Amino acid sequence: MPDSIEVLFAPAEHALLDQRDLRQTVCVVFDVLRATSTMVTALGNGATAIVPVAEVGEALALRKRQPEVLLAGERDGLRIEGRLTGGVSFDLGNSPREFTAARVGRRTIAMTTTNGTRALRACAPAAAVLLGSFLNLGATAEFIDEQAPLHLLLVCSGTLDQAAYEDALGAGALCDLLWSKYGSSGVADSAQIARRLFRLEQNDLLDAVSQSRNGRRLMAQPDLREDVPFCLQRDIVNLVAEMGKDGLVRVKG
Ligand code: MLT
Repeated sequence: MPDSIEVLFAPAEHALLDQRDLRQTVCVVFDVLRATSTMVTALGNGATAIVPVAEVGEALALRKRQPEVLLAGERDGLRIEGRLTGGVSFDLGNSPREFTAARVGRRTIAMTTTNGTRALRACAPAAAVLLGSFLNLGATAEFIDEQAPLHLLLVCSGTLDQAAYEDALGAGALCDLLWSKYGSSGVADSAQIARRLFRLEQNDLLDAVSQSRNGRRLMAQPDLREDVPFCLQRDIVNLVAEMGKDGLVRVKG
């Protein structure tokens, strides 16, 4: 029987995860703009696996061991260029629209982003770690509904050291879909806050997210502004994405 649902809004809370017993907890990590949306898109377009790493150096080391691996990710929202790596330009940035079947089909991708890949790594001790986004929300909710984990922890990746509005909305949308399952059990106030926020904003998510810190940053860049509406599309990717115990993100079989 499901027993609790909670949302972590701010990155400072990720650092405390190693003090919690997560053995019976399923974590769902949201980085709506853009890391989890991008990974879900990549898997939907046939990528074999994604290796989320916290640092640029880890991605480069992986490429050295496995030259066929694609390098992806951002710093300050932009694709990582050779001047940050001592010469190696990354193949892809963190825009989901770059991760087409032609670019990523049947490829493994090492990916480092400012917040999203770190939030995923922080959840590693959990019983299972899923990737949340609007793009695969329905499939993720259905899977959780069937599995009914005892504890559900929705982890918002945030922006640098702050909470991110769009992640709170994504977590709130998932709370809303699962409310009949978890709403009568141990509902943390954070889950109530997220769900109420989503219900308040659900009729115009683009307007709400365009005013967020990340939304404003992306909308100000002509090449990236379309990422915002892209990441708010609902249920265009019908898969559950999971970071396994080997640290690789794959489609849940
Ligand atoms: C992150 O992981 O911090 C974000 O996905 C940043 C971005 O929008 O590229």
